[in-house]
Amino acid sequence: MSSGLAIRDTAKKAVSLISKHKFARIYAHYDADGIAGGAIVAKALLRAGKDFQISFLKGLNDFEPENDELLIFVDMGSGYSEKISSINSDVIILDHHKPDGEIKPKKTLVHVNPHLFGIDGTYEISASGVAYIFARELGDNKDLASIAILGAIGDKQKLVGLNKEILIEGIEAKCLEVRPGISLPSGKLSKSLSMSLEPYLDFYGKEEELKEFLRKLGIEDKEVDDLSLREMQRLGDAITLRLLKLGAYEGVFEQIIGKRIVVKNLLVKNSSSLVDIINSCGRIGATSTAFSILLGDEKALREGVEIEEKFKREILEELLKRRRDVKEGFCIRYLVMDDAPSTSPIATVFSRYLMPDKPLVVLNIKKDGEVKVSARTTEKLARRLDLAEVMRLSAIRVKGVGGGHRVAAGANIKRENIEEFLKEVDRICCAMLA
Ligand code: C5P
Repeated sequence: MSSGLAIRDTAKKAVSLISKHKFARIYAHYDADGIAGGAIVAKALLRAGKDFQISFLKGLNDFEPENDELLIFVDMGSGYSEKISSINSDVIILDHHKPDGEIKPKKTLVHVNPHLFGIDGTYEISASGVAYIFARELGDNKDLASIAILGAIGDKQKLVGLNKEILIEGIEAKCLEVRPGISLPSGKLSKSLSMSLEPYLDFYGKEEELKEFLRKLGIEDKEVDDLSLREMQRLGDAITLRLLKLGAYEGVFEQIIGKRIVVKNLLVKNSSSLVDIINSCGRIGATSTAFSILLGDEKALREGVEIEEKFKREILEELLKRRRDVKEGFCIRYLVMDDAPSTSPIATVFSRYLMPDKPLVVLNIKKDGEVKVSARTTEKLARRLDLAEVMRLSAIRVKGVGGGHRVAAGANIKRENIEEFLKEVDRICCAMLA
């Protein structure tokens, strides 16, 4: 059986488990992919006449399950085999994180994860894609393909493999469109260029440089979504040059230049803008706002847009401020921050756009002494190195927890263990890269 068929077959088993229950409790991860996956499951259950409640979580470390008969985990669960094994309910996992061991369920478990079928869960399907495969088995839910693709974009995936199949289904269902152009957030061109994090163009706080860039480009400062194809092409060339000068990772070009994904049946049609809004809301804890936006709530969208503007400014300020604090290890770079507003976006932008040649580990010491760690690397380096393993093993060494994906992983440790943790991360990275 092909791997695509095998994952769909397992999704069918999840559907038959659903049919035994009237109510499901959904736990979804708080990032764009998790929220998108949660929205897909919620919509599909609603259409199937099932009751549900949904909560968004950062992880399952301190998780205590409610006493419900059916729990559905979206974008998490696979990396918490012990925790899931202790749950006394039926469980469905819709995830793409690397499984960390065998789950020994107390009741029925259906585990839908691309890694279990030899499918690349880092680039070819995200949790929202897995949720979509499940939703397609549950009913006529092709229109949810746009939300699935949104989650994949949020996780910086490629539109290949199963993602491509979902994209094609979405195009056929008229909820998705691929247009030529550049993936940039909506808004006035000058604002979009200076505020964008994906791509990060390093124009924020550099008004004169930006003015000069636009002057040379010879394009009027109008709405990005109103640019003609020729203007898009000229802009694409100029952005390519800018990214090359910044030293950006070559993999970002294929994600940014050449096409724009339009999510036609969602409140914001520009996928790049909508991902930013969902992500920003998730990161500041406004997960129900993000969820409501995907369900079509206009009022939530107004809130979301405000949250996004504030969040992005905060991150852009941090990016300017923290650049000089990045330190050099043997095989890694690292940055230690004290109670910064966010960790992952800093790690993502630095590692993709400004310093892609070594893995980057960003540590954020919270007021209570807990340290949030985000590690990032490029696909190229991840062919030789698995950051999920690096984080998992280094965290275990200092009695913390860690995991994730080959290119994007994280850990939670204590302040007093930072030095030992970093040493171990560097040592393992050197060993893997050798
Ligand atoms: O928080 P951040 O975005 O850096 O996390 C990157 C990835 O690492 C996510 O997929 C997250 O689920 C995973 N992670 C994990 N265990 C942790 C922290 C993060 O599996 N303790």
